[in-house]
Amino acid sequence: MTQDQLKQAVAQAALDHILPQLTRQSIIGVGTGSTANFFIDLLARYRMDFDGAVASSEATAARLKGHGIEVHDLNNVVELEFYVDGADECNKHLELIKGGGAALTREKIVAAVARTFICIADESKRVDFLGDFPLPVEVIPMARSHVARQLVMLGGDPVYREGVVTDNGNVILDVYNMQITNPRQLESDINNIVGVVCNGLFAARPADLLLLGTRNGVERIER
Ligand code: A5P
Repeated sequence: MTQDQLKQAVAQAALDHILPQLTRQSIIGVGTGSTANFFIDLLARYRMDFDGAVASSEATAARLKGHGIEVHDLNNVVELEFYVDGADECNKHLELIKGGGAALTREKIVAAVARTFICIADESKRVDFLGDFPLPVEVIPMARSHVARQLVMLGGDPVYREGVVTDNGNVILDVYNMQITNPRQLESDINNIVGVVCNGLFAARPADLLLLGTRNGVERIER
């Protein structure tokens, strides 16, 4: 199976999980990236069976609207049962690194609101220890150098993602070589640096269900 076929398989598995629980009033949180895109394309067929979606990025909002799925402002949404999104890395505790597509802040906000966060990923994303994938940190532009110095003090090698501006008008530092022995603590430590908007560690709010696409089928790992 190709990587795209594995992504499609987990997108279908997420859909199979949520469909029986959807009502005409349901609003679904939808993430960003190639795996989430497979999910959006599959979801489109059922657009008449639920109310709409909340998007974790402008790109996802555009794709949803392109399929005729209504996109709601999260501020007007009271109940968000499901959030479905990919990841750049996942461990057995369902802690994640996200933000390869620079959408980490909105992704973390939607994940915080959702009752159930379903992470969909192919097996290449599974790791024993988070951190081989450079950790994205969204930063207020004027604080970029300050935050970079603080990240060096935390043991990382930050690299400015040139040419990228997030949907929130900020910049991204990708932190290489970070020893992530305690993801939850590091997530908090980085968030405490003045000028940081958000970082790509999802440990305080990990996924609830991981659907992992493998050559032997979709593995289901629950928290
Ligand atoms: C977007 O900012 C990321 O968090 C994505 O969820 C992550 O990069 C996964 O993307 P793919 O599904 O394209 O691998």
